[in-house]
Amino acid sequence: MPTNPFSPAFGSEPAYLAGREAIVADFLEGLAGGVGDPNRSTILIGPRGSGKTALINHIATAASAQGWVSARVTALPGMLEAVIEQALEAGEHLLPAPAGAKLTGLGAFGVTVNMDRPEARSASWRSQVARIVDALGELGSGLLITVDEVDAKQAELVRLVADYQHFVSEGRAVALLMAGLPGKVLQMFTHRSISFVRRAFQHRLDPLSQADARLALRVPIESAGRSIEPKALDAAAAFSRGFPFLIQMVGYQTWRQHPGREVISAQDAADGIRASQESMDAMILDTTVQELSKGDLEFLTAMKDDPDFSTIADLAARLRISPSSAGQRRIRLIKAGVIEEYGRGQVRFTLPLLREYLQRAE
Ligand SMILES: Nc1ncnc2c1ncn2[C@@H]1O[C@H](COP(=O)(O)OP(=O)(O)OP(=O)(O)O)[C@@H](O)[C@H]1O
Ligand SMILES: [Mg+2]
Repeated sequence: MPTNPFSPAFGSEPAYLAGREAIVADFLEGLAGGVGDPNRSTILIGPRGSGKTALINHIATAASAQGWVSARVTALPGMLEAVIEQALEAGEHLLPAPAGAKLTGLGAFGVTVNMDRPEARSASWRSQVARIVDALGELGSGLLITVDEVDAKQAELVRLVADYQHFVSEGRAVALLMAGLPGKVLQMFTHRSISFVRRAFQHRLDPLSQADARLALRVPIESAGRSIEPKALDAAAAFSRGFPFLIQMVGYQTWRQHPGREVISAQDAADGIRASQESMDAMILDTTVQELSKGDLEFLTAMKDDPDFSTIADLAARLRISPSSAGQRRIRLIKAGVIEEYGRGQVRFTLPLLREYLQRAE
């Protein structure tokens, strides 16, 4: 029996990455394009489960295939050191290491990662990375740094971004690909020391089209040796609303109804959809809603019957609250990744199935 090709676990690489071709092409074009190409500094912005981590990994792998060395980190304490370690490790085959030198020890390729003295290490991070980048640059390669889960509260991220700007202005062979939740990216844009990151290219990871959602479901099924009835495929794709996390979830649940049969039926899809709905409630929606204050939940509930978006003025009137208090609730809910701005004074749901969840809760 073939194994289930879907992977609803967060951060896992999908069997088929759908609908992100243009973003991948832009970034790779930037790497090929030369120093100063604006595509080399890119930020991916999207809510939970929109596919940020999967896309970072996909692009980094593609960059490696073009001869770039990539250092992949998450914005957490220790990330600066991790960049150096990863660059040395990934570039091992390119960088001439003195005989017997350990990568994380002293003196790999004249670069010191001194574990004992963090102060000394942080002072020389920029020059250490510059040396690695230059060595790679001479070989026609370069260093791609990827940072997932950006957070301007992480001092090391601020430091990295500030130093990266120097590398670019010095004409070095570097690229930076970052990803984060909308609220976190916004905080980074307004951070005093690095507000220039606003000039990086920004890609919003919007939901995939229905055609791409169908591909993301059909290709892994067929590659694994089964097939799916057109009606089943349409129903599963429609249920996913193009959200990558839901595509993987509904694919996974639909597949496992009768894994021994060759064709996935409309009944399998209906049962898979029901199971996905339950997982979504238990894994995401219940906790999201429980974490909200009473007032914020009221605000959200007042949005549930507006067709596409809600205007803040309407919501304030409906709830009989002042515009400024409506504005504060709006900011808190955007930061929580539950809703997003949609034009001036308007908001809409970002979390898939949240609207339906609130409608059911009545
Ligand atoms: N373009 C895509 N096509 C199909 N599946 C995808 C795509 N992008 C991501 N996925 C799948 O969707 C799920 C969520 O992706 P991922 O973990 O990358 O999201 P994320 O935005 O990083 O979420 P979080 O903010 O929680 O870290 C994973 O199971 C992943 O394999
Ligand atoms: Mg992620």
